[in-house]
Amino acid sequence: MLHQMWLYFLTCSFHILPTVSDISKCKYQRSTYNCSGVGLQSIPDGRYLPPGLKILDLSNNNITRIPFLNFSESVSSSLIQMFLNHNQINSIQNFSFSKLTNLETLDMSFNSLSGLDVNYAIFANMSSLQNLFLDQNPLRIVRRLTFTELEIPVLRFLSLAHCELIDLENSAIGFNTLNALHLSGNRLNSISIKDLPIIVLEDFNTLDLSYNEIEELNNFNFPSVIGLRNLILDHNRITRLSLINVSFYQIQSISLRYNNVRTLDNTSLPWYLTTLRYIDFRENPIVCDCNMSWMLEDPKLKTKTVRIMCESPPVLNGRNLLDLKLSDLNCTDPRGYHNHHDDLNIVPIVIGIVLASGVLLVVTGILTYMIRKRQLKENSTSSSTKSYGSLAINSSKYPSKS
Ligand SMILES: *[C@@H]1O[C@H](CO)[C@@H](O)[C@H](O)[C@H]1NC(C)=O
Ligand SMILES: *[C@@H]1O[C@H](CO)[C@@H](O)[C@H](O)[C@H]1NC(C)=O
Ligand SMILES: *[C@@H]1O[C@H](CO)[C@@H](O)[C@H](O)[C@H]1NC(C)=O
Ligand SMILES: *[C@@H]1O[C@H](CO)[C@@H](O)[C@H](O)[C@H]1NC(C)=O
Ligand SMILES: *[C@@H]1O[C@H](CO)[C@@H](O)[C@H](O)[C@H]1NC(C)=O
Ligand SMILES: *[C@@H]1O[C@H](CO)[C@@H](O)[C@H](O)[C@H]1NC(C)=O
Ligand SMILES: *[C@@H]1O[C@H](CO)[C@@H](O)[C@H](O)[C@H]1NC(C)=O
Ligand SMILES: *[C@@H]1O[C@H](CO)[C@@H](O)[C@H](O)[C@H]1NC(C)=O
Ligand SMILES: *[C@@H]1O[C@H](CO)[C@@H](O)[C@H](O)[C@H]1NC(C)=O
Repeated sequence: MLHQMWLYFLTCSFHILPTVSDISKCKYQRSTYNCSGVGLQSIPDGRYLPPGLKILDLSNNNITRIPFLNFSESVSSSLIQMFLNHNQINSIQNFSFSKLTNLETLDMSFNSLSGLDVNYAIFANMSSLQNLFLDQNPLRIVRRLTFTELEIPVLRFLSLAHCELIDLENSAIGFNTLNALHLSGNRLNSISIKDLPIIVLEDFNTLDLSYNEIEELNNFNFPSVIGLRNLILDHNRITRLSLINVSFYQIQSISLRYNNVRTLDNTSLPWYLTTLRYIDFRENPIVCDCNMSWMLEDPKLKTKTVRIMCESPPVLNGRNLLDLKLSDLNCTDPRGYHNHHDDLNIVPIVIGIVLASGVLLVVTGILTYMIRKRQLKENSTSSSTKSYGSLAINSSKYPSKS
């Protein structure tokens, strides 16, 4: 009886642990233990892992949970990269990775993690982690303090793309070390990124917020992005922008393709920062009317690569705004004049010409009338042929006569 129970227990244990046949399909060469797509249901027991292992690939399996990874001291300290992408992971025990103090890359993309399962304790003690991939998990929310340098002190790359994110809790993300943050393909709007809690001093190369639901951006959305170089906001619903006062000290390129921007003014972007070299507004319903004439008049913008294509009026459709001449925009509306020196020069001239023509017309009319009157008088006294020939003489004499 007792014997049978032990046997039962052992059989059960073997069902929970990966079977030897699973492990036997893994390949080990050049410090890489590759178990990709071998049908694992769980993480292999640390005892099976070869000492000195640097790369552990457990991707494309059916692993659902991550327990405390109690690898041997040798493996814990040698492991540099771990791939857990394309599994069905839906739970991670707190401090699971805390022995892996030399791990630099952790890929957990394409899993089933929800934001409620992910908190800062999971990443505790990952003192060498530089690259963390969590894209394609149904997180929906990032909780307070989950990704901060307190837990992950040297993180450089974080991907939370396509995580169905609707909200980032206060101080969810805060790093001085971050190089790239990918938040594309979520459902973030103007409010959920209201205080996008990024604290970045240097080398912040890329913030990717493309494919979200952002409608408006103002100075308060980016309280501290000092080191940011490239801001990607393509494929949102942005209609209004006011980023003139953001503390962008290093910004080099801003891309806003596929949004709903119709018009731009001098507070929309920090146009004149010398670091800013590239601005892309293609695929926006830009109206190239007089409101945009300030851009043509500013020589500083000509030194940058600025891609702003007109959608309307139809005559200008497809033209790059900065390639147009001021006369291409319809600046007949007096509203547009306050600021445009070219127009100011033309308008008085036009008015002057019109006025002068009017005066000339009236004077000529009066003259003709007077001459006719005199001719009629003269006709009654002398011959008509003589008086026609003296018209010029008569008109030049006219002022002295009156
Ligand atoms: C593991 O093997 C698969 C093919 O079975 C390959 O695609 C993958 O790149 C390998 N992983 C590593 C880390 O070399
Ligand atoms: C995962 O399990 C499902 C059945 O639950 C199976 O159809 C699928 O082939 C498994 N995938 C892998 C990579 O083993
Ligand atoms: C880790 O494994 C060691 C033996 O290898 C054991 O003494 C220790 O209790 C285990 N720790 C945990 C938290 O399971
Ligand atoms: C974190 O690492 C420190 C030493 O680096 C160690 O004392 C502590 O126990 C570790 N914490 C966990 C949860 O493993
Ligand atoms: C994991 O750690 C977090 C943060 O300390 C805590 O809120 C949560 O209750 C812990 N979960 C478990 C299962 O201990
Ligand atoms: C930018 O800051 C200046 C001075 O700090 C302020 O006068 C101006 O109103 C601000 N502009 C916007 C659009 O917030
Ligand atoms: C923007 O243009 C207005 C005039 O339309 C001007 O008064 C203002 O100073 C300009 N602001 C900046 C930041 O250039
Ligand atoms: C241009 O400015 C005028 C007056 O400020 C405004 O009524 C009009 O809607 C603006 N045009 C566009 C395309 O925004
Ligand atoms: C200017 O206005 C006239 C009439 O209002 C219109 O026919 C023409 O297409 C406009 N051209 C541009 C470039 O806006």
